Amino acid sequence: MYNDYLCFCDIGRVRRFRLAICRWLICAAAICLPFVAVSAEPALIRFSHVTSETSPKGIGAKRFKELVDQRLAGKVRVEIYPGARRYDDDRAILALLLDELEMAAPSLSKFRPVSRRLQVFDIPFLFQDLAHLRRFQEGPSGRELLTSMEGRGLRGLAYWDNGPRVIATKRPLELPGDLKGSVFRIEPSDVTAAQYRLLDVVPIALPFSRVRDAAITGLVNGQENSWSNIASKRLHNYLPNLIELDHTYLSYMVVIRASFWNELAEDVRAELEEILAEVTAEVNRLALEKNKAARAAIAASGSVKITEPGPEQKSAWKAVLAPVREQFADVVGRELIEEAARIAAQSN
Ligand code: LMR
Repeated sequence: MYNDYLCFCDIGRVRRFRLAICRWLICAAAICLPFVAVSAEPALIRFSHVTSETSPKGIGAKRFKELVDQRLAGKVRVEIYPGARRYDDDRAILALLLDELEMAAPSLSKFRPVSRRLQVFDIPFLFQDLAHLRRFQEGPSGRELLTSMEGRGLRGLAYWDNGPRVIATKRPLELPGDLKGSVFRIEPSDVTAAQYRLLDVVPIALPFSRVRDAAITGLVNGQENSWSNIASKRLHNYLPNLIELDHTYLSYMVVIRASFWNELAEDVRAELEEILAEVTAEVNRLALEKNKAARAAIAASGSVKITEPGPEQKSAWKAVLAPVREQFADVVGRELIEEAARIAAQSN
């Protein structure tokens, strides 16, 4: 009985003691919580890209950081790794999947390991001009493609322009047959590889950071790129024959690691989307400006030949490259090709 009473008293004391501890912990949490919240580290966005800091994409990345610093101070911080300083695009995609990076803006031709459908943008002559490409990207298919890689760990947030791809070679260049036997550096896209095989060219996929050396050493005697990229690497010094076919456009997808994005607070995501919309408009305006200036500078260098093909010449290129569309229709999805054709028909 006495023992039972003792036990009863002990249990009561233990309960009171526990209650006191709980109250104390609740008070301590209430006092400390604001400080904990304030001292929480801002989410870090590590943003990698391969072009220079003065390219449209490089300026866009810096502007993105500036606006995040202004509007999301204490909540989000951005570190930029430009010029392939830390990662080439293929490595950047891997780093995103391995949680070592949060953001990148690779060319649409670089997503082959994650999505075959994005190669729709590499089909020669599918998009008539930049306005057509823009309408497709802003339409239902373009928007769907942004979220199509979520299951693989990537979320697309925006498309950024660069410009039409120009083919540059060592040899004189007018007609498709002129490229026979050449070796071209390409971006790692099956569609681009097929395009060059139809021209009897050996395609070699190399990172952007290797293009200049490959042209200097003669590993390749041709490549295709935007005017601004050709100028920034001075590729026209080694590959001085250029043709403006407007067969494809160099365009980027700004992607973020899906797991990182999903963990951000809703208001932070909304602000980041707003910032990106502003930066996208700026990048696209700059892309036009910079490509025009780069073309003019290259033309003025005097040592190049720029061919603007007339309708007949262009038809010859279109005829040779036409099979690519059917060859890849089932790979990229017929519905995407049909949508691109429908948008083109609407605007004609
Ligand atoms: C290339 O690899 O040629 C381009 O995708 C580089 C770039 O990001 O503009």
